[in-house]
Amino acid sequence: MLDALGFSAWMQARLEQVERTLENQLPVSTEAPAALHEGMRYGVLDGGKRVRPLLVYAASEAVCAARGVEALHVSQVLSPAIDLAACAVELIHAYSLIHDDLPCMDNDVLRRGKPTVHVAFGEAQAMLVGDCLQPLAFELLAGVARLGIPAQVSVDLMNCLAHASGSRGMAGGQAIDLQSVGKALDLEQLRQMHELKTGALLRASIQMGALVAAQGPFTVAHMPLEAKALNAYGHAMGLAFQVIDDVLDVEADTATLGKTAGKDSAQNKPTYVSLMGLEPARAYAHELLEQALAATAPLGDNALRLNQLAQLIVLRKS
Ligand code: IPE
Ligand code: IPE
Ligand code: MG
Ligand code: MG
Ligand code: MG
Repeated sequence: MLDALGFSAWMQARLEQVERTLENQLPVSTEAPAALHEGMRYGVLDGGKRVRPLLVYAASEAVCAARGVEALHVSQVLSPAIDLAACAVELIHAYSLIHDDLPCMDNDVLRRGKPTVHVAFGEAQAMLVGDCLQPLAFELLAGVARLGIPAQVSVDLMNCLAHASGSRGMAGGQAIDLQSVGKALDLEQLRQMHELKTGALLRASIQMGALVAAQGPFTVAHMPLEAKALNAYGHAMGLAFQVIDDVLDVEADTATLGKTAGKDSAQNKPTYVSLMGLEPARAYAHELLEQALAATAPLGDNALRLNQLAQLIVLRKS
């Protein structure tokens, strides 16, 4: 991979920013109700690949570079806003995992190498932890308007994340997932489910990074080259991420994944592997990677981090 060393240093720096921001934004565990706050911290901190925050950073940096704005890490106004946007998406993602693992959903006992939140804190508390992470995400986005960034950007960020999280996004996809157990979906139905349950939040991550960097509307009408490229990239990678999740569920072991392997077939879930087979599913993810890289080609070097993340998403082992 080109610039591999530069990429790992870039990633390390962004991961530290995410961890620090989450640590500061989550209520301390001594604050009442202590068990709830402890559960929130347990479900969010110390774990997870943080792919969605990394996409927020990479998209914002691509748009900044395309606009000739100085690098984000030296921009005192944009950098804290990007941190908040990145952490807001991660909070929604963490809540989606906590609810996904509940006995009434996938009934999983292991997540990010630790007992799931309902195993550690009880089912009712796990539900509430998820309930509390959602509004906290929107509080963070409201905070963007206090950083000297136009309030409209804050509103647009909230709109984007709300839409991607709700019934027309992640939660809608989860509903389809539950109602599809034991059913044979065709490829188009499977694609729709994956694009909602996983793709929506990944696409929102890219949109949100771009929105902060553009500090105004991020649409094809306003920024034709960038918006077209990033939308196509987001569609390809949003889907590829879940295709690889399906592949790893079959191929990887529990210790590597930090979550129970083999759950999809045990629970009779339709996946890309059950529909296409293991190797064709992986080949399809590679095809989507090629589509993503082709989509960002017009952005040239400005899309370097996005392209490196795309490779990471498809080549990952956990
Ligand atoms: C797992 O997401 C659930 C899906 C949406 C496929 P990740 O693989 O990003 O999980 P973490 O955040 O690294 O734990
Ligand atoms: C979950 O999909 C997607 C979410 C919205 C959380 P999975 O059920 O396949 O995720 P894992 O495999 O449990 O992480
Ligand atoms: Mg699930
Ligand atoms: Mg699951
Ligand atoms: Mg899975």
